Amino acid sequence: MRLPFIAAAIFAAVPSFAQDTAWVDDARKVAGSVPPKLLAVLADEIAKGGPEGAIEICRDKAPAMAKAASEETGWAIRRVSLKNRNPRAVPDAWERAALEDFDRRAAAGETAMTLEKAEVVSENGKQVRRYLRALPTQELCMNCHGPVDRMTPAVIAKLKALYPEDRGTGYTAGQIRGAMTIRKAM
Ligand code: HEC
Repeated sequence: MRLPFIAAAIFAAVPSFAQDTAWVDDARKVAGSVPPKLLAVLADEIAKGGPEGAIEICRDKAPAMAKAASEETGWAIRRVSLKNRNPRAVPDAWERAALEDFDRRAAAGETAMTLEKAEVVSENGKQVRRYLRALPTQELCMNCHGPVDRMTPAVIAKLKALYPEDRGTGYTAGQIRGAMTIRKAM
């Protein structure tokens, strides 16, 4: 019966920091899984029907993808922004502090693509794992989040009708548009 002993020894030998950060790798994977899929669908839809036809993709498909990934992984997943378009995409205090820090670091020259924050926080006496990952803009995003002269009149009109309080425009490529934010109670 040596096997259980060996297994126990290996388990005990795993350094504690590795156990502590295993969840961060998991979170990174989960938060990183949705944006490329969404980007592919967006690019496809814009090519087919122009940017105004793709607005529904961001409106319906993005939350649907997040919901599917939530159900698959057990992480609660959403998008937030300091200049939100969807009225529900307002960051909470922890997310706001992280996004402000990301903006400062991006302005100081860090690559926006790799900005992330992971932390175990205590909320109402409960330990919660939280992970936030920056969503930088690229040229494609300018169709719907850019300055007025980068958007078609049809897009501007549709956005205005759907999001009368829209603050998610005026970006240039490379700026941080918002973040994927995910959480799971321990
Ligand atoms: C075809 C138009 C369109 C394109 C292109 C587009 N978006 Fe959006 N975006 C939207 C719409 C519409 C919403 C609001 C979705 C909702 O109601 O939840 C949104 C919401 C968001 C949000 C959630 C926060 C908020 O303000 O509501 C983020 C983050 C975001 N977009 C990032 C991006 C990034 C990054 C790109 C480029 C990779 C991009 N978007 C490209 C239309 C677009």
